[in-house]
Amino acid sequence: MSGCLITVEGIEGVGKTTNINWICECLARLGIPYCQSREPGGTPLAEEIRQLLLTPRDEQMSDMTELLLVFAARAQHLHQLIRPALARGEWVVCDRFTDATFAYQGGGRGLDMSLIATLESLVQQALRPDLTLILDIEPALGLARAHQRGAPDRFEQEAVSFFSRVRQTYLARAQAAPERYLIVDAGRSLNDVQAQISSGLEQFCQRRAAGAQTSEAHPHGA
Ligand SMILES: Nc1ncnc2c1ncn2[C@@H]1O[C@H](COP(=O)(O)OP(=O)(O)OP(=O)(O)O)[C@@H](O)[C@H]1O
Ligand SMILES: [Mg+2]
Repeated sequence: MSGCLITVEGIEGVGKTTNINWICECLARLGIPYCQSREPGGTPLAEEIRQLLLTPRDEQMSDMTELLLVFAARAQHLHQLIRPALARGEWVVCDRFTDATFAYQGGGRGLDMSLIATLESLVQQALRPDLTLILDIEPALGLARAHQRGAPDRFEQEAVSFFSRVRQTYLARAQAAPERYLIVDAGRSLNDVQAQISSGLEQFCQRRAAGAQTSEAHPHGA
């Protein structure tokens, strides 16, 4: 059986990195082989593209350049890390993925969502995450957490209104396909957030096991 792609989304400082470590602990406890990665990045070449995307500079990066760099990094990540890991049966837990492109370059920058969907199909073919956790928080609270860490990167320099559009896009995408998304209230204490995540993961594993039994009973989809 091939592995699962789990993606973790949300605005700056919401707790993605903190909670990915928690997700990996949960998978290890369940004896599930996994690897952990992030976007943009995840391979040496894609990490170089990440630096291009995050470093503030005098020359303004056009929105289209930003979009194409994000997908260029993703194409490399898929080729080098994600697809081989899934083929080996590993689960991949990824800090941001294409939902972030819809949220930041679509919702935040105002690029055409159907153009993003076209690039998604071009770069990923049929591959989509099996489960996406959206860590949801008031932008001001997330940014306050992120700013504790030091100098803001190119995205962290955006206004709160930018992150409000990003947040609304994440929530709208989750509403449109609730079977793939788990919305987590990330404004609560870390213990509470972790409890929401482990119960969501448990339900996902149960659904997946039930799905596998059905396809064993009807191996040709009969
Ligand atoms: N539920 C929580 N309550 C309070 N503080 C939290 C919570 N979750 C995370 N934090 C703290 O908020 C800060 C940001 O968390 P973290 O780095 O995990 O966010 P992130 O989403 O990965 O941010 P970025 O998008 O910038 O990478 C950290 O100092 C972390 O310890
Ligand atoms: Mg992080």
